[in-house]
Amino acid sequence: MTPPQVLTTVSSFRAALAEAVAAHVRERGAAPAVGLVPTMGALHSGHAALVDAARAASDIVIASIFVNPLQFDDDADYLHYPRTPERDVALLGAHGVDLIFTPDLAQMYPGDSHAPLVRVSAGQLGTRWEGAARPGHFDGVVTVVAKLFNIMSPPAPARLEAWFGAKDAEQVAIITRMTADLNIDVDIRTVPIVRDEHGLALSSRNQRLDETDYSAALAIPAALFALSEDAASERRLGVADQVEELRSAEGVELDYLVVVDPDSLEELQPGDALLDEHGVLRGRALALIAARVGPVRLIDNVILSPGRSQPRE
Ligand code: PAJ
Repeated sequence: MTPPQVLTTVSSFRAALAEAVAAHVRERGAAPAVGLVPTMGALHSGHAALVDAARAASDIVIASIFVNPLQFDDDADYLHYPRTPERDVALLGAHGVDLIFTPDLAQMYPGDSHAPLVRVSAGQLGTRWEGAARPGHFDGVVTVVAKLFNIMSPPAPARLEAWFGAKDAEQVAIITRMTADLNIDVDIRTVPIVRDEHGLALSSRNQRLDETDYSAALAIPAALFALSEDAASERRLGVADQVEELRSAEGVELDYLVVVDPDSLEELQPGDALLDEHGVLRGRALALIAARVGPVRLIDNVILSPGRSQPRE
């Protein structure tokens, strides 16, 4: 496998992608599908699953590594965010990425303060759940993702698909809505959550959990799987029971556990189209959870479908 090219500037990335597209057209006589995987690095098997899905579906696979300060509401979280650039490039290369874009702060946000004046807003969608807990977070996400789409879109006749993990369900809903609202020409594709052998969703932040924190954190997927079983068995969703359980769990500080409409992210209420007056789910919904465990805030989710259990990995 040829090693990936690593490009640190917007102009060098665009030139390399244009060349890769032209070479594909020359050699195959057809327009390539380009698969994009945006990341903040500190890569693990969850990210690798996105790359594998993109590799299987596209002719040219491109990825970005950029820890985006705009989406951190907490300076300490930004400073402590793990950075493992050499390992990341090796992992992306081993999974068949062709081009890697690794801009620095000055490249992404030029100017003295490195803070863009004109930004994208996630609107109301950006103020729910994670957005409420981390004001401005989703505005920072959509601003950087819009920039990455602009920088990394291939020239015609190639087309772009961008791959995101279901792990960040609100992020997927908001980015999907942004591409529709702003007419950005990219197909958004989603990959299921990758979990470890005990059910914990893989996250770069898990590295900061000690053994006690880790055991405590397992209460998070346990609560989601219990709700998934309730939905699958068409029983009343035991959200209140799970909340109570988590509130009394040692080492877990629950922020929210809610069942929402997957598109609007609004909490379902008994008597809604999706939830009958007995609290039994009647359509596809999303259970979202966030909790602080030890030094980190963890988020997770599961799709709830009446009559269907969700796979646990
Ligand atoms: P990051 O947290 O690095 O995640 C990059 C992608 O990997 C996201 O789409 C995320 O949902 C996916 N991912 C992470 N853990 C996963 C898991 N356990 N299973 C499946 N997918 C997983 O999300 C971001 O970066 C940033 O917000 C970004 C979109 C790059 C914008 O800065």
